Amino acid sequence: MNRSMAALGAAAFRYPVWAQTNASAPGVSSLLLLGVDYYPDQTSEARWEEDAQMMAETGFTNVRIAEFAWALMEPAEGKFDFAWLRRAVQTLHKHDISVILGTPSAAPPSWLAARYPEIVEVNAQGEPLHPGGRRFTCPTNQTYRRLSLSIATEMARAFAEVPGVIGWQIDNELTLSPSPRCYCNFCQAGFQAWLRSKYGSLDNLNRSWGTVFWSQTYTDFTQIPVPLPSGGDPNPGLALDYARYQSYANVSFLEEQLGMLRKACPRHFVTTNNVGPPVDYIDLRDLYKNLDFAALDNYPGFFEMLLHEQAKATDVSWEFINTTVALEHDFARGIKGGKPFMIMEEQSGKAGQRTFSPQPEKGQVRLWTYQAVAHGAMGVNYFRWDTATFGTEEYWHGILNHDRSGSPAYDEIKQTVKELKALGPEVLHSQYPAETALVFDYDCDWALQIQPGHYALRYMDQITSWYGSITASHTGIDVVAPGADWTPYKVVFAPLAYVLSEAQGERIRSFVQKGGVFVSNFRLGVKTETSQIVRTPLPGLLHDVMGVTVEDYVPIYSARPAVTFSSVLSGPDAEVGIWMDVLQPSGAEVLGTYTSGAHAGQAAITMNSFRKGKAVYIGADLNAESLARVLRTLAAQAGVTQPLDVPPGVEVTVRAAGNKQWMFLLNHTPALQTVNIRRPFTDLLTGEAHNETIDLSAYAVRVLQAG
Ligand code: GAL
Repeated sequence: MNRSMAALGAAAFRYPVWAQTNASAPGVSSLLLLGVDYYPDQTSEARWEEDAQMMAETGFTNVRIAEFAWALMEPAEGKFDFAWLRRAVQTLHKHDISVILGTPSAAPPSWLAARYPEIVEVNAQGEPLHPGGRRFTCPTNQTYRRLSLSIATEMARAFAEVPGVIGWQIDNELTLSPSPRCYCNFCQAGFQAWLRSKYGSLDNLNRSWGTVFWSQTYTDFTQIPVPLPSGGDPNPGLALDYARYQSYANVSFLEEQLGMLRKACPRHFVTTNNVGPPVDYIDLRDLYKNLDFAALDNYPGFFEMLLHEQAKATDVSWEFINTTVALEHDFARGIKGGKPFMIMEEQSGKAGQRTFSPQPEKGQVRLWTYQAVAHGAMGVNYFRWDTATFGTEEYWHGILNHDRSGSPAYDEIKQTVKELKALGPEVLHSQYPAETALVFDYDCDWALQIQPGHYALRYMDQITSWYGSITASHTGIDVVAPGADWTPYKVVFAPLAYVLSEAQGERIRSFVQKGGVFVSNFRLGVKTETSQIVRTPLPGLLHDVMGVTVEDYVPIYSARPAVTFSSVLSGPDAEVGIWMDVLQPSGAEVLGTYTSGAHAGQAAITMNSFRKGKAVYIGADLNAESLARVLRTLAAQAGVTQPLDVPPGVEVTVRAAGNKQWMFLLNHTPALQTVNIRRPFTDLLTGEAHNETIDLSAYAVRVLQAG
């Protein structure tokens, strides 16, 4: 028992949940977080006892509370009232339910907005937002920061020693709103200060952005604008830096509260919740850098509804949704270099604010929970306990219906929590082995949003389709930062690596030199970090590593070019979508050739042997089937293994600790699926032994261990 544990014992406190599970190793590595998001602030106090008792019966270990309750905690400026919250925590704790407290800065009270109207965010059209919703504040504004820090500090003081409190969620989904970036005067001044420290001098900044273009040369930092509508698009260097600044401003907003919490509540963990790709306004790796673990929110059904709404279509593919969700989970695990993450909000029923998402199918909430665990989650909280009968989210169903009866997923959630407890921290905190990695680079994403090059070219689409192509073979994949350690991987995939710093070029070179396989595609190495186009022939810094020169790059509109494959990639010809880089090999082997048009006969795909490794350039925007075949062939060639061969719609992942392994089989389809396992496995959820095949009913889950 370490000193803080002894102190806890001496003070006759109950150990927090994480310490109970493994007294010799208190800390995040043994947390057992299987809970629910709860709103005592929106619930009559007369109900709390019953709620806590029911939650305990459901098996929950924790709740997250108070993240929008600022008005109740500080009813007037400087007047604090935590008595109600303390009573709520006590009631929950009495039933052995631990508490994650949310700091409330995402929802400022009405008195605050009325007294300090300057705190509102200004949207990308230059219009101020208005109070009345949530998340309408500027991340730079000092008054808002001061008041947010003040309420968080008072909370921390009030709850540092309160039994039952185990951790903190700072704010709620920073930047996630219809207007994710702020363009107000405070942000402009903040941006200018940030630029001053980044570039040191105006000369350097003017050169780095190329402001001589359109007479934009700045002679004073105060002249630098934010990218609001003008008579023409902004300088791409300025626009990219502004995306970075907005991410930085939100991270530093969070870090003010974090610094305080570390001092005031040293025994508590601290995290925040957010949403990963395809949402991309804040660099989550920066956001979570100094937090204890990543915690993401997961709403697959809500995502389905949004896709329908955006496409005005009815045939949104569940395969796409599963792939996107799996990508988000792998991204979440990668945020802190492979450390297990938490789902702070998991969809538990019909979800939506104006409209309802579909009702999850029977088994699907359990399946989504296991999908998160299968990809590295160590804990899951469901959103939310009861369903609000008032407010903007009356339609967002929780575990209890409006009349407090159990929702359709209630029994399923109870079963899932029981099962996950039985699997225990060893499984939940295990690692996720991966032989391949997919690079996700916010700079490339943001720079391509500023100048996509083709109206239909989106970084996120490429990332999702590469991820889906590779994971169709169920090989473990990490989603990594460009600067991550790539040594564990046989293959690193980096689509649309459009912005390439010198350091990144060196990392790629060294990875290939040492024997790695690097696979990239068109628009490789086009831009510097300041969003200028490189002056060398493309692919710029990687010219020798890739063993090709890009002879021409061709956006495609009406033409219908195709690619024919050779050598290891042999297979049916591919249609080319919206882009082709025409390659001139300087040492690389040609694996694919354009078949028609002005570039017929020229190289479309090449592979270069560079020292001990290989570098593959896919110049053509291949159709989905061909891309999947190509990427999977390259992985197999590099010796990447596939745990099992499974039918479409079934997902397999492996988690491991030491020499123990757990294999997760997830049936995302509404039909029975049979998987050939070819060796004996035991299903840890049922205790059944299986030898040759294993059946998965609709939306079923198996957790298997060999033997
Ligand atoms: C999340 C958010 C929650 C709640 C939920 C349902 O994005 O963090 O506060 O709003 O969605 O809308």
